Amino acid sequence: VNWQRVTREADLPPGSVRRVVLDGIEIALCNVGGEFYAVDDVCTHAYASLSEGALIGHELECPLHGGCFDARTGAAQGGIVTEDLRRFAVRVEGGDVWIALGDG
Ligand code: FES
Repeated sequence: VNWQRVTREADLPPGSVRRVVLDGIEIALCNVGGEFYAVDDVCTHAYASLSEGALIGHELECPLHGGCFDARTGAAQGGIVTEDLRRFAVRVEGGDVWIALGDG
């Protein structure tokens, strides 16, 4: 597993989402009520950056056609989106947020 430090915890307040690119992988880092989650940033429906959409509770809403994913798991919430996002492990340590690439 390849852990990479992406931001300070304090720089991404609850309810916000940010796009990060690690080793060419586009990731949406979400703060859901103080817990951090990382999923693919590119929608599985067509090409759109989910971090430019809205994070409402744990629902990440695509800006293009309004498809919704569970930011905690990457699960497609039905309707227009049927394919889940990949999920990446996140840990917070000493105020820094880390994302794991690869298995684990
Ligand atoms: S591109 Fe995301 S819902 Fe269509």
